[in-house]
Formats: sequence, structure tokens, C-alpha cells
Amino acid sequence: MTQAVIAIHGGAGSFEGLKWRQEAPFRENMALACEAAAAHQGDAVEMALAAVAQMEQSGAFNAGKGSVLNENGDQYLDGAVARGWDANFGAVAHVSATYSVAHLAKAVMERSAHSFLVGAGADALAKDLNLPALELPNAALQKVYRELKDGEKQKEKLGTFSFGGETDTVGAVALDTQGRLAAVGSTGGTWLKALGRVGDTPVLGSGFYADTHRAVCATGVGEILMRGLAATRVAQCCMDGLSPQKATEKVSKVLAEMFEVDSAGFIALSHDGQLGFAMNTKGMGRAFWRIGEAQGPQQAIWPHEDLKPL
Ligand code: GLY
Repeated sequence: MTQAVIAIHGGAGSFEGLKWRQEAPFRENMALACEAAAAHQGDAVEMALAAVAQMEQSGAFNAGKGSVLNENGDQYLDGAVARGWDANFGAVAHVSATYSVAHLAKAVMERSAHSFLVGAGADALAKDLNLPALELPNAALQKVYRELKDGEKQKEKLGTFSFGGETDTVGAVALDTQGRLAAVGSTGGTWLKALGRVGDTPVLGSGFYADTHRAVCATGVGEILMRGLAATRVAQCCMDGLSPQKATEKVSKVLAEMFEVDSAGFIALSHDGQLGFAMNTKGMGRAFWRIGEAQGPQQAIWPHEDLKPL
């Protein structure tokens, strides 16, 4: 039997957002997400989904209840699931009916004739499934939105919060006791995004990827991750023989050279349990747990911070 492993990220960026999202709950919820996966060790999709669902409902991340607001002050969410063992996936975008978009993406994969649903169609499926409703954004989110919209400060703050300057997105990769892999992602996108904007998170090969040998989640600036085929590049590096750690480091560097620094972070996991974490940003929330190991989940945010128990 394979030792089950879960790895998660809580977004990559400048982490300016930790001035208003609090660091302690952020770290605690990364550990809780790893623990949530433990009840599902026999199924990598369920492991990754449980971890992401915990982060979505916590409100501590830019996903689910904590999703950032678009230009009109509304939340529109994107999510995806990849099942490595039969190369299947489900994705949703521009969802406003539920905060549980990772579950919705799984339903698209398992219950619909399609792979990717957006907008009204995705919302209708969420309602059919009675997934929990997305309620009004909390006071902290509304306050930041008002600040960003506030005339004189707007230009300066847009630079901080829009492109990659925010703790962005959540994701998980999992290896189950049968040696199978999965990847799941969920996000509210970027602050003040245009109506209809979709980033990398639900785009297969950009925000996520899984097959029989490796699973990858990307995080950062969606436009760059899509242009750079980010998750595909990491997977290809692994196929070419690099370890997940070397592959994530290489692609973080390549994207910084091709586009810009502060654009990308990655988590990757191989079928033999090797992990990779790397970023070209000022921080990336990240955690892992080899399920059952006594010291529990290990987590970090800053680039040179060792992963360690809380
Ligand atoms: N990386 C999430 C987004 O850009 O939407």
C-alpha cells in the first residue's frame, strides 16, 4: 500500500493581503486543510477536494467564501478537479451560485457530458446539487473593495492588489493509498477583475494537471500562467526526468525570465511521493502531510522559510 500524501497551496504573490487577511488563521487553515484530507486516503480526488473545501469554507483565502471582489463588487469563482488515473477533469468558471466550486467542478467531471461549464450553466448545476450558496462578501472584503475603488488611492493600490499582489487561489495535489494522483484548485480570481474575466485556475494545463505519474497546481497571475502553459511545463519537466522539486524551481525561473517576477508558484507531487514547492513571488502559502506522520502537517509562507509544524 502507498503512503498517502497531501500538499496544498494558499496562493502565491506579494502577500500584501496578509495585512488584512490575518496570518495566524491563514497558517492554521493550511494545516487544517491537510488534516481534512486524512479521512479520504483511499481516493486522491476526495483527498484533494476535502483539503480545498476546507480552505473554501474558511474564508481565510482568496477562494470560496473569502474570494476577492470584481470591478462591480461581486464575487465570481473558478474551480477545477483533475483525476490522474484516467486523465479526466472537470472545471467551472464565473460561478456565483455557490462557494463550493471544487465540488461543482467534480460534479461536472462525474455527472455531466462535458468537462467545463461556465456562468449560468454552472450556477444551474450548483443549484440542482444544492451546493451551499455564496452569500454577501464579509466586511473585510467589502472594506478593501471600497479602498481600492477610492479615487486618489486607486492607482497605487491597484498596483498592489490586482496583478499577483494578492494572496491568491488555493489548490491541492494528493497521492492516495492506491498510488493514484489528483489535483484540485479554487479561486476568486483577481481584485477588481473585469466582468467575465477567467484566470488559469480552471484551465487544464495552465492552473492544474494530473496523470498517472505526477500532479501539479499553479498559482499566481492567471494571465501569465495561461500564456506560459504553466502546469504543463512542470509536468513536462517531470516527464523529462526532473524531480518535482527541480521541475517547479525550473519553471518558476523560466516564467520569471519570460514574463515577470512575482508571477508564479507551484506545488507538485509524484506517484512515488516526491514533493516540489517553488515560487518566483515574495511568498507562497504551502503545506504538506504524509498522512499519519506524527508531527502532523508542515507549512510555510516565505520563500526561505522551512516547512515545519505549527
Ligand atoms: N491564479 C488565479 C487567477 O489569476 O485567477
